[in-house]
Formats: sequence, C-alpha cells, structure tokens
Amino acid sequence: SVDLHPTEPWMLASLYNGSVCVWNHETQTLVKTFQVCDLPVRASKFVARKNWVITGADDMQICVFNYHTLERVHMFEAHSDYIRCIAVHPIKPYILSSSDDMLIKLWDWEKKWCCSQVFEGHTHYVMQIVINPKDNNQFASASLDRTIKVWQLGSSSPNFTLVGHEKGVNFIDYYSGADKPYLISGADDHLVKIWDYQNKTCVQTLEGHSQSVSFVSFHPGLPIIITGSEDGTVRIWHSGTYRLESTLDYGMERVWCVASMHGSNNVALGFDEGNIIIKIGHEEPAMSMDASGRIIWAKHSEIQQANLKAMGDAEIKDGERLPLAVKDMGICEIYPQTIQHNPNGRFVVVCGDGEYIIYSAMALRNKSFGSAQEFVWAHDSSQFAVRESNSVLRIFKNFKEKKSFKPDIDAEGIYGGFLLGVRSVNCLAFYGWDNTELIQQIEIQPKHIFWSDSGEFVCIATEESFFILKYLADKVTSAQESNEGVTKDGIEGAFEVQGEIQEIVKTGLWVCGCFIYTSSVNRLNYCAGGEIVTIAHLDRTMYLLGYIPKDNRLYLCDKELNIVSYSLLVSVLEYQTAVMWRDFSMADKVLPTIPKEQKTRVAYFLEKQGFKQQAMAVSSDPEHQFELALQLGELKIAHQLAVEAKSEQKWKQLAELAVNKCQFGLAQECLHHAQDYGGILLLVTASGNTAMVNKLAEEAEKDDKNNVAFLSYFLQGK
Ligand SMILES: *[C@@H]1O[C@H](CO)[C@@H](O)[C@H](O)[C@H]1NC(C)=O
Ligand SMILES: *[C@@H]1O[C@H](CO)[C@@H](O)[C@H](O)[C@H]1NC(C)=O
Ligand SMILES: *[C@@H]1O[C@H](CO)[C@@H](O)[C@H](O)[C@H]1NC(C)=O
Ligand SMILES: *[C@@H]1O[C@H](CO)[C@@H](O)[C@H](O)[C@H]1NC(C)=O
Repeated sequence: SVDLHPTEPWMLASLYNGSVCVWNHETQTLVKTFQVCDLPVRASKFVARKNWVITGADDMQICVFNYHTLERVHMFEAHSDYIRCIAVHPIKPYILSSSDDMLIKLWDWEKKWCCSQVFEGHTHYVMQIVINPKDNNQFASASLDRTIKVWQLGSSSPNFTLVGHEKGVNFIDYYSGADKPYLISGADDHLVKIWDYQNKTCVQTLEGHSQSVSFVSFHPGLPIIITGSEDGTVRIWHSGTYRLESTLDYGMERVWCVASMHGSNNVALGFDEGNIIIKIGHEEPAMSMDASGRIIWAKHSEIQQANLKAMGDAEIKDGERLPLAVKDMGICEIYPQTIQHNPNGRFVVVCGDGEYIIYSAMALRNKSFGSAQEFVWAHDSSQFAVRESNSVLRIFKNFKEKKSFKPDIDAEGIYGGFLLGVRSVNCLAFYGWDNTELIQQIEIQPKHIFWSDSGEFVCIATEESFFILKYLADKVTSAQESNEGVTKDGIEGAFEVQGEIQEIVKTGLWVCGCFIYTSSVNRLNYCAGGEIVTIAHLDRTMYLLGYIPKDNRLYLCDKELNIVSYSLLVSVLEYQTAVMWRDFSMADKVLPTIPKEQKTRVAYFLEKQGFKQQAMAVSSDPEHQFELALQLGELKIAHQLAVEAKSEQKWKQLAELAVNKCQFGLAQECLHHAQDYGGILLLVTASGNTAMVNKLAEEAEKDDKNNVAFLSYFLQGK
C-alpha cells in the first residue's frame, strides 16, 4: 500500500517482504524504515495528528509506530486472517480494519485500542474500506463476495448492499464533491463502476482495463478518476464525462495501490517493481487580465474577479502581493483549464473538458459554447478558432462558424494572434484568418507563440530557446495578389528572423516593440533589439498577466492565484523601440519623459546597440560618460570629466589616449595629474625636451621619486 503525508513531502510504502518505508519525494531519499514482520504488509497509513504510522499485515497484527522516534508504540492481534485495509477516522480516535476473516473492526485508541464494534455481513475477504468524506459516520466496504456494502458507525449490520460486479470487488472510493452522491468500485471482472448510493443504482461502467482492477479513486481536488489494474496500466478518466483522458504505462508490472490528497497535484502509485509519484493537472493557473486591469480566474469551477483599479492609490511595491478585493462571479459548467479575454476585453472564454464557453466578461453571461480541445482568439476580437480534434479546426466570426478546415498537417496544437498557427509533430504552419491560406510552414516545434499588438513581430518559443521574427505583411499581400513566390511551404520571405535567444520562455507578452517574458530560471526579463534586460529575479514560478501602461507596471500571478507587480516604465520601452528602428527624432521626443535615474540604463542600451555618441549624451553616470568619451576619442569631454573626478586612474587612461592621438601637451598634463613620473620621463626623453627633463628631475626629487630623479639628472650629465 501507499499513503501520502498531509504536510511533510513523505510517501509511505508497505511492501510484500514485510518492510515499511517512508520516502521523501522531493529529495527522492529513503528517510525511515520499519521492519514490521517477514510477511506481506498490505495496509499502512499515516496518522499525522499522532505522528504515527499504522500497519496491518499477514501476521494478523496491527502495529503502531511513532515516525519520529521509530519506536513501536503498540501492537495487537486484530483479526484471525490477513489484514487487507486500514481506514483512519478523520476526527475521532478510531481506525477501521478489514480482513480475509470477512470482518471489519472498529478500534478506539483512546480506550486502550479496544475493539468497539465488529461489522459482519460479507461472505468473502473484505478487500477495502473507505469512510465517506461527506459523512464521517458512514463507510463503505468492497469484498471478493462481489458486493459493496455501506455501513453506519454504531450499527453492526449494513445499511444496504450494491450488487452488480460479476467478480470480486477490490477497491472503492467516495466522490468528495457535494454535487453527486457517488461511489466508485473496481473489480476482478476488469470493470470500474460508478454508483449513486442514494438511489442505489450503477450510473456508469468504465471499460478498458484488460485485467483485474486493483484500485479506483475520485481525485479529491481535480475532476478526474484514477484507476489501476494488474494489466500494468493506470488510466485517467474525466469524472464528469467519463471519457478516458490518458493511459499511463510505466512498465513496472502490476499496479496495486494509489494515494492522492486534497490540495496537491501529487498522486502516489505502487507497482510490483517500485513506487511512482506523478503530478496531475495544469500548473499554470487559469487566469486572464484585460487591458483595463480587470482580472478573472477560476478556482476549481468557481469563477472569480478582481479589479486593479479598485485598489485606488494604495502604494504598491515591486514583488509584493496586491491586496485585491475578490468577487465571486458564479460557477462554470466545465472545469476550466484556461481562461482568456479576447483582445478588446468584452468576452472571456473558458476552455476545459473538451469544451469551451464564451461569457460576457462583465456579467459572466454565456454567449456561445461548443466542443474544443483548444480555443484561440484572433487579434481582431471578432474571430476565434477551435481545435476539435487533430484533423478538424473551426473558425468563427461574430460567433458564427465561418469555416471548418482540415490542415495539411496533423494539428496537435493551435495558436492565436495575428495569424492562426497550427503545430504538428515537426513543424508549425501559419494561416491567414480570412481565407485560411497557408502563409508559411516553418520547421520548428513551438511551445508558445506571442504576437505583438501591431502584428509586426512574433516570438516563437521552443523548449530550448526563442526566436524573434518580423512579419512582412506587405510582402505577403503582394505575393498573394501576384501569386509570385508562393510555394508549397507558403510565401517566401513572409518572415524575417531578427534573432534567437538561448532562454526558455514560460510566459510572455509584447509592450511597444519589446518582448517581456518569464524564463525557466524564474527571471522576469525583457528583450529589446536582441538585448536582454532583467527586471527582477523571482523567488517562485510566476505567470505574466499583462502590462498597464498608465501604471507603468507589469502584473504577474503565481500558482496560488496571488498577484504581484513590477514597475517598468513605458517611456523606457518606447525609447528603446525607437532606437531599434533608428528613429532618433522619435527617440529624442521620448527622452525627456524618462526619469533621470533610468537614463544610465538607457545609455547602456544605446552603447550596446552601437550608438555611443547618443549614449554619452543620455548617460547621467560620470563613470559611464568617461568610458564613452574615451571610446569615442573625445579628449575635451574626457578631460573635463577627469578634472571633475580628480581620479588618478582617469588621468592615466586619458594620458594614454592623448599619446595615441599625438596630443603630447595634453598627455604631459595628464601624467602630471596622475603623478606618473615614469610616464613623463618616457614622454620627455622620447621627444628630446631637455627643459622638461630638467623640470622633471627637480619635481621627482622633491617628491622622493629618486630613481626617476637620478635618471633625469644623469641624462643631462648632472
Ligand atoms: C524488502 O524490499 C525492499 C525493496 O526491495 C528492500 O529495500 C528491503 O531491504 C527488503 N527487506 C527485507 C527484510 O528483505
Ligand atoms: C443506516 O442505518 C442506520 C441504522 O439502521 C440509520 O440510522 C441510518 O439512517 C441509515 N443511513 C442511511 C444513509 O440509510
Ligand atoms: C439514480 O440517480 C442518477 C443520478 O445520480 C440517475 O441518473 C439515475 O437515473 C437514477 N436511477 C434510478 C433508478 O432512479
Ligand atoms: C447558458 O445560459 C443558459 C441560460 O442562462 C443556460 O440555460 C445554459 O445551460 C448555459 N449554457 C452553458 C453551456 O453554460
């Protein structure tokens, strides 16, 4: 059996050879072991409120260990045959145990582990018991007598029996949501059944496993059912539609047990050949922000809203969680995996469970819906596309289907924006929204695609790096008109590669001509003209929501739906974009709006772009200005800065430049300021300036520079 600890990153595993292990699944290390007996230990559970591990084994004993001290706290013979299962009561000091002796027993640890009740009724081994999460006085049991029984604590005979499986039942679980009174069971007839325990009927049978089903589980937080079988596979089903979502096969022989936990994406699985922890579900929160700062997100199927404007003038610090008032907007009929505003912010689409629903963003009134594996908006707000399957895409305009089309490639994913992107295993194809003409097919495997608002630029992010491309719409239009340069791969020269950057983009967006993104190493960066600027180092994974130019702030959220912001001046971005376009009259117009403290940063940007002259004019840092003046050979400016700085180092650097430029007078002055007598000696002897040699001899002597003084006198024959 396996179990997960509610607060520590621990997985408990009890083994066939009698060992019980606690693994830390974050560090993947074995942290504790208990040798229980030399027979199979089929049941083990954490009781975190007592720091216990409780085990039940084929030696018919229940053992209680303190997992801190590793000491055995208690041990008693619980049954007259193998123990199959232990269930821990969520509040009361009770455990239930079930056994091949066909009995279920209730034990009270506050009454010296006395057996306070025996539940009799099954006519074969009792494989499993589970307490109803919605009513902890009720529990259910699964037995090889092919039945499921539901019991009440306090009553020794069952309330009712569910009959339907044709072979022994191995496992059962309750659905924890309030909306359905359901139980799920898995049996040796290879079937999984879902039962309504109020009207006592089987509502669904899931077929697929080819061997005995060893476990079934309604995930306590996500809308999924997890089943495992002796056929070696683990299957994930949707708990609303019962569609098989995926089949996992790890090649570790038969799979026996599962543990999942509310509020966690971790699921523990136990196989013949080892244990596995898998993470289930989306990491990225379903959240979207419109251009005015209204944010909508899904918390499970509840839709909530917050408005940045409602914060008023509260002072905001970079990286601090924003104090937002949250408003409930209603329950969504599907379990949202993604939420996206359309570009004008009037509508919001929710996509999940193979369906989409478009709502009005303000009142969450549904406007349209349909089936979709994926949904994307076009840049113009009136169109959208859905991917129904790998071969059917549909394009809608003003909520009416305009075109259904089958792309030439297998559509594994779609991307919205200025063009409709379609991804297959090995390439990406862009289509025009209006006529679904192929614009260009590119050999790349994109993860994300981000279009700038104007459609001039697009960032294609892959698993290893990202590319910035320029889209040449004029060229495309004229090629389409003249039909020249159109090949089977699309229109030649539709895109121009601006650069590739070796960073992995997680989320991104464009502001002015700059691409802003979060990277795989949790940096918040932007890329302007091929140069990467880091805005912040993030302490956890964050997802970009949007940028509000009026606030000069970028907004991000984390997995727990906290929203934070970082300052990023629109004037700086505008200036950098203008520079990239060599539009210096625009740049000069924007410059006065850039605050003084940002100017040096801008100057470094200019310098890297090769505009040293402009950089020197913009920089407000004398060190940087001096560096630039030297590089530009601006002796006068450098001299002025050296005078102001009174730095020996600067005088030396300037002297060197002056010598290079044959400005010996200036060089000599600089060397004097730098008190570089060796340098002066070289200069004056090389130029044969006897008077200066004499002066140097005197000065050096005064300054106790005896070597230089000696040489100077010696050269003059003194
Ligand atoms: C039981 O099996 C585990 C895993 O193979 C092993 O680490 C452990 O030492 C075994 N215990 C005994 C008592 O053989
Ligand atoms: C189960 O049986 C007990 C005792 O017979 C009764 O009090 C209880 O209401 C029953 N519960 C259900 C859900 O039928
Ligand atoms: C029992 O309830 C389920 C809904 O939970 C319904 O689909 C089914 O038809 C009901 N069966 C009977 C026999 O009333
Ligand atoms: C849309 O709204 C109508 C009326 O408010 C409701 O009956 C219907 O179930 C909703 N459909 C979806 C898919 O949300």
